[in-house]
Amino acid sequence: MAAATDSSTGDNLRSLIFKFEDGKASLSVLDQLLLPHETKYVPVNDVNDAWDAVRSMRVRGAPLIAIVAVLGLAVDLTSNQATIRELDEAAAVGVDDIKTYIYDKMTYLTTSRPTAVNLFNAMEELKQIIVNSVPSSSSSSHYAPFVDAIVTHAQFMLERDVSDNKAIGAHGADDILSRHTDPDGVRLVTICNTGSLATAGWGTALGVARELHRRHKLRSIAALETRPYNQGSRLTAYEIQTEKMNGTLLCDSMAAFYLQSKGADACVVGADRVCANGDTANKIGTLALAIIAKEMGVEFFVASPFTTLDIGLASGDKVEIEERPPGEMLESSGAPLEMPCWNPSFDVTPAKYITGIITEKGVLKKSADGTLDVVGFVKKHS
Ligand code: MRU
Repeated sequence: MAAATDSSTGDNLRSLIFKFEDGKASLSVLDQLLLPHETKYVPVNDVNDAWDAVRSMRVRGAPLIAIVAVLGLAVDLTSNQATIRELDEAAAVGVDDIKTYIYDKMTYLTTSRPTAVNLFNAMEELKQIIVNSVPSSSSSSHYAPFVDAIVTHAQFMLERDVSDNKAIGAHGADDILSRHTDPDGVRLVTICNTGSLATAGWGTALGVARELHRRHKLRSIAALETRPYNQGSRLTAYEIQTEKMNGTLLCDSMAAFYLQSKGADACVVGADRVCANGDTANKIGTLALAIIAKEMGVEFFVASPFTTLDIGLASGDKVEIEERPPGEMLESSGAPLEMPCWNPSFDVTPAKYITGIITEKGVLKKSADGTLDVVGFVKKHS
Protein backbone atom coordinates (compact mmCIF):
# COMPACT_ATOMS: atom_id res chain seq x y z
CA MET A 1 0.00 0.00 0.00
CA ALA A 2 1.29 3.49 -0.89
CA ALA A 3 2.50 5.42 2.16
CA ALA A 4 0.34 8.22 3.62
CA THR A 5 1.72 11.63 2.67
CA ASP A 6 0.97 15.33 2.70
CA SER A 7 2.85 17.23 -0.01
CA SER A 8 4.74 20.21 1.35
CA THR A 9 7.74 21.70 -0.37
CA GLY A 10 8.45 24.34 2.24
CA ASP A 11 7.69 26.93 -0.42
CA ASN A 12 5.90 30.18 0.34
CA LEU A 13 3.87 29.59 -2.79
CA ARG A 14 2.44 26.09 -3.06
CA SER A 15 1.07 25.28 -6.48
CA LEU A 16 -0.87 22.32 -5.08
CA ILE A 17 -1.78 20.36 -1.98
CA PHE A 18 -1.82 16.57 -2.33
CA LYS A 19 -2.69 14.17 0.46
CA PHE A 20 -2.94 10.42 0.65
CA GLU A 21 -4.72 9.17 3.76
CA ASP A 22 -6.63 5.95 4.51
CA GLY A 23 -6.30 4.74 0.94
CA LYS A 24 -7.76 7.93 -0.52
CA ALA A 25 -5.89 10.61 -2.46
CA SER A 26 -7.00 14.25 -2.48
CA LEU A 27 -5.75 17.19 -4.50
CA SER A 28 -6.34 20.95 -4.53
CA VAL A 29 -4.58 23.31 -6.91
CA LEU A 30 -3.85 26.99 -6.50
CA ASP A 31 -6.07 28.78 -9.03
CA GLN A 32 -3.48 30.75 -11.00
CA LEU A 33 -6.17 32.62 -12.92
CA LEU A 34 -6.85 34.57 -9.74
CA LEU A 35 -3.23 35.40 -8.88
CA PRO A 36 -1.74 37.65 -7.68
CA HIS A 37 -4.86 39.20 -6.16
CA GLU A 38 -6.52 36.17 -4.65
CA THR A 39 -5.13 32.94 -3.20
CA LYS A 40 -7.69 30.21 -3.64
CA TYR A 41 -7.21 26.45 -3.83
CA VAL A 42 -9.77 24.54 -5.85
CA PRO A 43 -10.39 20.80 -5.51
CA VAL A 44 -9.52 18.32 -8.26
CA ASN A 45 -11.81 15.33 -7.73
CA ASP A 46 -11.30 13.33 -10.89
CA VAL A 47 -9.58 13.28 -14.28
CA ASN A 48 -12.19 15.65 -15.73
CA ASP A 49 -11.29 18.27 -13.11
CA ALA A 50 -7.57 17.67 -13.79
CA TRP A 51 -8.08 18.07 -17.54
CA ASP A 52 -10.07 21.23 -16.99
CA ALA A 53 -7.54 22.73 -14.57
CA VAL A 54 -4.80 22.22 -17.18
CA ARG A 55 -6.81 23.34 -20.21
CA SER A 56 -8.18 26.45 -18.51
CA MET A 57 -4.68 27.26 -17.21
CA ARG A 58 -5.72 27.33 -13.58
CA VAL A 59 -2.49 25.34 -13.44
CA ARG A 60 0.17 25.79 -16.07
CA GLY A 61 3.91 25.35 -16.58
CA ALA A 62 5.32 22.20 -18.19
CA PRO A 63 6.26 20.24 -15.03
CA LEU A 64 3.12 21.20 -13.12
CA ILE A 65 0.78 20.19 -15.94
CA ALA A 66 2.22 16.67 -15.92
CA ILE A 67 2.17 16.39 -12.14
CA VAL A 68 -1.45 17.57 -11.82
CA ALA A 69 -2.49 15.08 -14.50
CA VAL A 70 -0.90 12.14 -12.65
CA LEU A 71 -2.12 13.29 -9.23
CA GLY A 72 -5.58 13.84 -10.70
CA LEU A 73 -5.54 10.28 -11.99
CA ALA A 74 -4.53 9.01 -8.54
CA VAL A 75 -7.43 10.93 -6.97
CA ASP A 76 -9.85 9.66 -9.59
CA LEU A 77 -8.83 6.04 -9.11
CA THR A 78 -8.95 6.09 -5.31
CA SER A 79 -12.19 8.03 -4.99
CA ASN A 80 -14.72 5.72 -6.53
CA GLN A 81 -14.96 2.53 -4.49
CA ALA A 82 -18.02 1.30 -6.41
CA THR A 83 -16.05 1.44 -9.66
CA ILE A 84 -13.24 -0.47 -8.01
CA ARG A 85 -15.64 -3.27 -7.05
CA GLU A 86 -17.04 -3.36 -10.59
CA LEU A 87 -13.56 -3.51 -12.03
CA ASP A 88 -12.60 -6.30 -9.68
CA GLU A 89 -15.53 -8.27 -11.00
CA ALA A 90 -14.39 -7.45 -14.53
CA ALA A 91 -10.98 -8.78 -13.54
CA ALA A 92 -12.52 -12.23 -13.46
CA VAL A 93 -12.40 -11.81 -17.23
CA GLY A 94 -8.92 -10.31 -17.27
CA VAL A 95 -6.76 -7.52 -15.86
CA ASP A 96 -6.57 -6.06 -19.35
CA ASP A 97 -10.00 -4.51 -18.72
CA ILE A 98 -8.54 -2.61 -15.80
CA LYS A 99 -5.53 -1.50 -17.80
CA THR A 100 -7.76 -0.28 -20.62
CA TYR A 101 -9.92 1.62 -18.14
CA ILE A 102 -6.84 3.40 -16.75
CA TYR A 103 -5.14 3.95 -20.13
CA ASP A 104 -8.31 5.62 -21.48
CA LYS A 105 -8.16 8.14 -18.66
CA MET A 106 -4.46 8.75 -19.33
CA THR A 107 -5.05 9.29 -23.05
CA TYR A 108 -7.82 11.75 -22.23
CA LEU A 109 -5.47 13.72 -19.96
CA THR A 110 -2.93 14.11 -22.78
CA THR A 111 -5.53 15.96 -24.87
CA SER A 112 -5.54 18.91 -22.45
CA ARG A 113 -2.54 20.80 -23.88
CA PRO A 114 -0.21 19.72 -26.71
CA THR A 115 3.15 21.47 -26.48
CA ALA A 116 4.77 20.62 -23.14
CA VAL A 117 6.27 17.14 -23.50
CA ASN A 118 6.26 16.56 -19.72
CA LEU A 119 2.61 15.47 -19.87
CA PHE A 120 3.33 12.88 -22.56
CA ASN A 121 6.56 11.72 -20.91
CA ALA A 122 4.71 11.33 -17.61
CA MET A 123 2.03 9.15 -19.16
CA GLU A 124 4.65 6.98 -20.90
CA GLU A 125 6.53 6.56 -17.64
CA LEU A 126 3.29 5.67 -15.84
CA LYS A 127 2.40 3.14 -18.52
CA GLN A 128 5.66 1.32 -17.83
CA ILE A 129 4.81 1.25 -14.14
CA ILE A 130 1.35 -0.13 -14.85
CA VAL A 131 2.79 -2.78 -17.17
CA ASN A 132 5.16 -3.85 -14.40
CA SER A 133 2.54 -4.01 -11.64
CA VAL A 134 0.84 -7.30 -12.40
CA PRO A 135 -1.45 -8.34 -9.52
CA SER A 136 -0.67 -11.71 -7.95
CA SER A 137 -3.22 -14.49 -8.43
CA SER A 138 -3.77 -14.66 -4.64
CA SER A 139 -4.66 -10.96 -4.38
CA SER A 140 -8.30 -10.32 -3.35
CA SER A 141 -8.45 -7.15 -5.45
CA HIS A 142 -7.03 -7.12 -8.97
CA TYR A 143 -7.45 -3.39 -9.20
CA ALA A 144 -5.68 -2.30 -6.00
CA PRO A 145 -2.07 -3.09 -7.07
CA PHE A 146 -2.42 -0.81 -10.10
CA VAL A 147 -3.87 2.03 -8.04
CA ASP A 148 -1.21 1.52 -5.40
CA ALA A 149 1.54 1.73 -8.02
CA ILE A 150 0.03 4.91 -9.51
CA VAL A 151 -0.32 6.63 -6.14
CA THR A 152 3.24 5.69 -5.18
CA HIS A 153 4.49 7.04 -8.50
CA ALA A 154 2.48 10.27 -8.11
CA GLN A 155 4.11 10.84 -4.71
CA PHE A 156 7.52 10.10 -6.23
CA MET A 157 6.92 12.62 -9.04
CA LEU A 158 6.24 15.37 -6.52
CA GLU A 159 9.46 14.72 -4.65
CA ARG A 160 11.54 14.24 -7.80
CA ASP A 161 10.39 17.52 -9.30
CA VAL A 162 11.43 19.56 -6.27
CA SER A 163 14.80 17.83 -5.91
CA ASP A 164 15.49 18.15 -9.67
CA ASN A 165 14.64 21.83 -9.53
CA LYS A 166 16.97 22.41 -6.60
CA ALA A 167 19.75 20.63 -8.51
CA ILE A 168 19.04 22.77 -11.59
CA GLY A 169 19.30 25.86 -9.39
CA ALA A 170 22.64 24.76 -7.95
CA HIS A 171 24.17 23.76 -11.32
CA GLY A 172 22.94 26.95 -12.97
CA ALA A 173 24.20 29.19 -10.18
CA ASP A 174 27.62 27.45 -10.09
CA ASP A 175 28.00 27.73 -13.84
CA ILE A 176 26.99 31.38 -14.15
CA LEU A 177 29.07 32.42 -11.14
CA SER A 178 32.13 30.67 -12.59
CA ARG A 179 32.29 33.43 -15.23
CA HIS A 180 30.65 36.37 -13.48
CA THR A 181 32.55 37.29 -10.38
CA ASP A 182 31.23 40.76 -9.58
CA PRO A 183 30.87 40.72 -5.76
CA ASP A 184 27.41 42.28 -6.12
CA GLY A 185 26.29 39.22 -8.05
CA VAL A 186 24.73 38.66 -11.45
CA ARG A 187 22.00 40.34 -13.48
CA LEU A 188 19.42 37.99 -15.02
CA VAL A 189 16.59 38.35 -17.50
CA THR A 190 13.75 35.84 -17.72
CA ILE A 191 10.45 35.29 -19.48
CA CYS A 192 7.16 33.62 -18.53
CA ASN A 193 6.82 31.91 -15.16
CA THR A 194 9.11 29.05 -14.26
CA GLY A 195 9.03 29.19 -10.48
CA SER A 196 7.14 27.43 -7.70
CA LEU A 197 3.90 28.13 -9.53
CA ALA A 198 5.02 26.25 -12.65
CA THR A 199 6.32 23.21 -10.79
CA ALA A 200 5.82 21.16 -7.64
CA GLY A 201 8.13 23.65 -5.94
CA TRP A 202 11.24 25.87 -6.22
CA GLY A 203 11.17 26.25 -10.02
CA THR A 204 13.53 25.74 -12.94
CA ALA A 205 14.79 29.00 -14.52
CA LEU A 206 13.43 30.96 -11.58
CA GLY A 207 14.99 28.28 -9.38
CA VAL A 208 18.41 29.38 -10.70
CA ALA A 209 17.54 32.95 -9.69
CA ARG A 210 16.34 31.73 -6.29
CA GLU A 211 19.58 29.84 -5.70
CA LEU A 212 21.65 32.89 -6.66
CA HIS A 213 19.49 34.98 -4.32
CA ARG A 214 19.98 32.44 -1.54
CA ARG A 215 23.75 32.79 -2.03
CA HIS A 216 23.43 36.63 -2.02
CA LYS A 217 24.64 36.64 -5.61
CA LEU A 218 21.56 37.85 -7.46
CA ARG A 219 22.11 41.51 -8.20
CA SER A 220 18.91 41.86 -10.22
CA ILE A 221 16.32 39.99 -12.22
CA ALA A 222 14.26 41.50 -15.01
CA ALA A 223 11.01 39.68 -15.79
CA LEU A 224 9.34 40.09 -19.16
CA GLU A 225 5.62 40.67 -18.91
CA THR A 226 5.03 37.73 -21.35
CA ARG A 227 2.20 38.87 -23.54
CA PRO A 228 -0.58 38.06 -24.06
CA TYR A 229 -1.21 35.87 -21.04
CA ASN A 230 1.08 37.84 -18.76
CA GLN A 231 2.60 34.98 -16.79
CA GLY A 232 5.59 37.27 -16.22
CA SER A 233 3.68 40.20 -14.77
CA ARG A 234 1.04 38.21 -12.88
CA LEU A 235 3.06 35.25 -11.63
CA THR A 236 6.81 35.84 -11.88
CA ALA A 237 6.53 39.37 -10.52
CA TYR A 238 4.52 37.89 -7.62
CA GLU A 239 7.17 35.23 -6.97
CA ILE A 240 9.96 37.81 -7.18
CA GLN A 241 8.18 39.96 -4.61
CA THR A 242 7.38 37.01 -2.37
CA GLU A 243 11.04 35.96 -2.41
CA LYS A 244 12.18 39.58 -1.91
CA MET A 245 14.47 39.54 -4.95
CA ASN A 246 15.59 42.77 -6.60
CA GLY A 247 13.30 42.56 -9.61
CA THR A 248 12.10 44.81 -12.44
CA LEU A 249 9.14 44.21 -14.70
CA LEU A 250 9.55 44.90 -18.42
CA CYS A 251 7.15 44.85 -21.36
CA ASP A 252 8.35 42.23 -23.84
CA SER A 253 9.12 44.99 -26.36
CA MET A 254 11.61 46.57 -23.94
CA ALA A 255 13.99 43.59 -23.87
CA ALA A 256 16.36 44.86 -26.59
CA PHE A 257 16.65 48.34 -25.15
CA TYR A 258 17.02 46.94 -21.63
CA LEU A 259 19.97 44.72 -22.63
CA GLN A 260 21.49 47.56 -24.64
CA SER A 261 21.17 50.22 -21.94
CA LYS A 262 21.23 48.39 -18.60
CA GLY A 263 22.98 45.15 -19.59
CA ALA A 264 22.64 41.65 -18.17
CA ASP A 265 24.93 38.72 -17.47
CA ALA A 266 22.57 35.97 -18.58
CA CYS A 267 19.07 35.23 -19.78
CA VAL A 268 17.63 32.11 -18.16
CA VAL A 269 14.35 30.72 -19.46
CA GLY A 270 12.33 27.55 -19.02
CA ALA A 271 11.30 24.96 -21.57
CA ASP A 272 8.23 23.05 -22.68
CA ARG A 273 10.07 20.67 -24.98
CA VAL A 274 13.78 20.30 -25.72
CA CYS A 275 14.45 18.37 -28.94
CA ALA A 276 17.36 16.04 -29.70
CA ASN A 277 19.32 18.84 -31.39
CA GLY A 278 18.67 21.34 -28.59
CA ASP A 279 15.92 23.32 -30.33
CA THR A 280 13.63 24.41 -27.51
CA ALA A 281 9.92 25.17 -27.44
CA ASN A 282 9.03 27.66 -24.73
CA LYS A 283 6.63 30.51 -24.10
CA ILE A 284 5.95 32.83 -27.02
CA GLY A 285 8.54 35.63 -26.94
CA THR A 286 11.43 33.34 -25.98
CA LEU A 287 12.74 33.25 -29.55
CA ALA A 288 12.79 37.05 -29.77
CA LEU A 289 14.64 37.26 -26.43
CA ALA A 290 17.21 34.68 -27.61
CA ILE A 291 17.90 36.56 -30.84
CA ILE A 292 18.27 39.83 -28.95
CA ALA A 293 20.58 38.20 -26.39
CA LYS A 294 22.84 36.83 -29.12
CA GLU A 295 23.02 40.21 -30.82
CA MET A 296 23.87 41.87 -27.48
CA GLY A 297 26.44 39.22 -26.53
CA VAL A 298 24.47 37.98 -23.50
CA GLU A 299 24.50 34.27 -22.58
CA PHE A 300 21.17 32.53 -23.11
CA PHE A 301 20.39 29.48 -20.96
CA VAL A 302 17.47 27.09 -21.00
CA ALA A 303 16.70 25.50 -17.62
CA SER A 304 15.10 22.11 -18.21
CA PRO A 305 14.69 18.96 -16.15
CA PHE A 306 15.11 15.65 -17.99
CA THR A 307 11.30 15.32 -17.85
CA THR A 308 11.14 18.15 -20.44
CA LEU A 309 13.52 16.49 -22.90
CA ASP A 310 12.11 14.94 -26.04
CA ILE A 311 15.06 13.19 -27.61
CA GLY A 312 12.69 11.24 -29.85
CA LEU A 313 12.02 14.45 -31.74
CA ALA A 314 14.93 15.38 -33.98
CA SER A 315 14.33 19.13 -34.24
CA GLY A 316 11.99 21.93 -33.30
CA ASP A 317 10.10 22.20 -36.59
CA LYS A 318 8.11 19.10 -35.55
CA VAL A 319 6.83 20.53 -32.26
CA GLU A 320 3.08 21.07 -32.09
CA ILE A 321 2.53 24.68 -31.08
CA GLU A 322 -0.66 25.28 -29.13
CA GLU A 323 -2.85 28.12 -30.32
CA ARG A 324 -4.95 29.65 -27.56
CA PRO A 325 -8.35 31.29 -28.08
CA PRO A 326 -8.23 34.82 -29.57
CA GLY A 327 -10.23 36.11 -26.59
CA GLU A 328 -7.23 35.61 -24.30
CA MET A 329 -5.27 38.05 -26.44
CA LEU A 330 -8.10 40.47 -27.10
CA GLU A 331 -9.09 40.79 -23.44
CA SER A 332 -5.59 41.69 -22.29
CA SER A 333 -4.81 44.05 -25.16
CA GLY A 334 -7.79 46.39 -25.25
CA ALA A 335 -8.31 45.67 -28.96
CA PRO A 336 -11.79 45.78 -30.51
CA LEU A 337 -13.27 42.36 -29.75
CA GLU A 338 -13.97 41.55 -33.42
CA MET A 339 -10.32 42.06 -34.41
CA PRO A 340 -8.89 38.87 -35.95
CA CYS A 341 -5.73 37.75 -34.17
CA TRP A 342 -3.19 34.94 -34.08
CA ASN A 343 -2.41 33.61 -30.61
CA PRO A 344 0.32 30.94 -30.61
CA SER A 345 1.23 30.15 -27.04
CA PHE A 346 4.81 29.01 -27.71
CA ASP A 347 7.68 29.44 -30.13
CA VAL A 348 10.79 27.41 -30.88
CA THR A 349 14.27 28.78 -30.26
CA PRO A 350 16.83 27.12 -32.53
CA ALA A 351 19.78 25.59 -30.69
CA LYS A 352 22.18 28.07 -32.31
CA TYR A 353 20.86 30.80 -30.00
CA ILE A 354 21.23 28.70 -26.84
CA THR A 355 24.45 28.88 -24.79
CA GLY A 356 23.59 25.84 -22.70
CA ILE A 357 20.88 23.74 -21.13
CA ILE A 358 20.85 23.62 -17.34
CA THR A 359 19.56 20.26 -16.12
CA GLU A 360 19.48 18.46 -12.77
CA LYS A 361 22.46 16.37 -13.96
CA GLY A 362 24.63 19.34 -14.91
CA VAL A 363 24.92 21.94 -17.65
CA LEU A 364 25.02 20.81 -21.27
CA LYS A 365 27.18 23.29 -23.13
CA LYS A 366 27.57 23.84 -26.85
CA SER A 367 30.20 21.63 -28.51
CA ALA A 368 33.08 23.22 -30.41
CA ASP A 369 31.07 22.85 -33.62
CA GLY A 370 28.23 24.92 -32.13
CA THR A 371 25.78 22.06 -31.62
CA LEU A 372 23.99 20.89 -28.47
CA ASP A 373 24.27 17.12 -28.12
CA VAL A 374 21.20 16.43 -25.99
CA VAL A 375 21.16 12.74 -26.87
CA GLY A 376 24.81 12.23 -25.87
CA PHE A 377 24.20 14.13 -22.63
CA VAL A 378 21.19 11.97 -21.75
CA LYS A 379 23.13 8.77 -22.51
CA LYS A 380 26.02 9.89 -20.34
CA HIS A 381 23.73 10.66 -17.40
CA SER A 382 21.24 7.80 -17.56
O1 MRU B 1 1.43 28.43 -21.17
P1 MRU B 1 2.22 28.14 -19.92
O2 MRU B 1 2.08 29.19 -18.86
O3 MRU B 1 1.97 26.75 -19.41
O4 MRU B 1 3.72 28.18 -20.42
C1 MRU B 1 4.75 27.97 -19.49
C2 MRU B 1 6.10 28.09 -20.09
O5 MRU B 1 6.27 28.29 -21.26
C3 MRU B 1 7.25 27.83 -19.16
O6 MRU B 1 8.35 28.62 -19.51
C4 MRU B 1 7.66 26.36 -19.25
O7 MRU B 1 6.52 25.56 -19.13
C5 MRU B 1 8.63 25.99 -18.22
S1 MRU B 1 7.93 25.97 -16.59
C6 MRU B 1 9.14 25.43 -15.54
